[in-house]
Amino acid sequence: MDRSNKPSAIGVGASIPQPTISFRENNTVEATLPSGESVTVHLYGATVTSWKLADGKEQLFVSEKATLDGSKPIRGGIPVVFPVFGPPPPNHATTSLPQHGFARNSTWEFLGKSSSESGGYAVKLDFGLSHPMLSAEFQKAWPYQFGLVYSVTLTRGSLATSLQVQNQGDVNFDFQVLMHTYLSVEDISQVRVKGLQTKVYADKTQDGAIVTEGSAAVVIDKETDRVYRALDPKVPIEVITAADEKPLFSITREALTDVVVWNPWVEKAKGMADFGPDEAYKNMLCVEAGSVAGWQTLEAGDFWEGGQTIRPRL
Ligand code: BG6
Repeated sequence: MDRSNKPSAIGVGASIPQPTISFRENNTVEATLPSGESVTVHLYGATVTSWKLADGKEQLFVSEKATLDGSKPIRGGIPVVFPVFGPPPPNHATTSLPQHGFARNSTWEFLGKSSSESGGYAVKLDFGLSHPMLSAEFQKAWPYQFGLVYSVTLTRGSLATSLQVQNQGDVNFDFQVLMHTYLSVEDISQVRVKGLQTKVYADKTQDGAIVTEGSAAVVIDKETDRVYRALDPKVPIEVITAADEKPLFSITREALTDVVVWNPWVEKAKGMADFGPDEAYKNMLCVEAGSVAGWQTLEAGDFWEGGQTIRPRL
């Protein structure tokens, strides 16, 4: 075979810029694309604590008072909620767990990175958590053998987070899961949320009253805590500007059919010790892709996978 056009293997890799990965002493892993976009993940909770575009603009909100020493969940970024969303129900396998479960307050392991150049650069960081890695208290409270692999993929035009759940034991378990994304917005009064009209939600500010969304562009002008359910994951939820409906973020999901929209507003923001400054509720909006309206049952030996892709205005 004529291989006269065969490229030289030597030196090719060295000449192509590669994503860089840094491990910081504060338990974070940071990946930067050759084009300048970056993502930072804290091993505590595998919480994404920063996502910057090439121009350095931060896309995620992290409270100035967030605790980063592993003593409580990080207030901001993308905490992972598993295996229960919200306060655990009584008489349930999750009853003894804290609100939002243990994934966001356990230390994960960095499993490694992979990168690709197809259609532009991408870097994927994988993190793992399994039952033996939990604190004794959590192991006792949820005695199921599980394995989680959380993948954070950064491309020039998106950030994707996906979670694989494996049942490594010999009994079924039920779980809920949610990616508690705190989006950074300049002014909450100037944004709207699109893609929810006609969808049914439980209004947690009204004792879980069931409401049908009437608005094509949801306004956040008070405490908002809604669990929208049974959505088509392929239809993006869009955060848009109020003035001219320009998209600020678009969120598509895989296997995550529920979306929580949360903003604590004035009083709740003041009441959270790790939320600050008090007015910062104006600079954030949580749009949380999850599976939380019911329970996923995972049979012994089975896998489940779900995730979200967030695209910012470019
Ligand atoms: C949201 C819930 O997902 O998380 C809210 O719907 C809750 O009810 C919020 O207040 C923050 O929870 P936490 O435990 O981080 O204070």
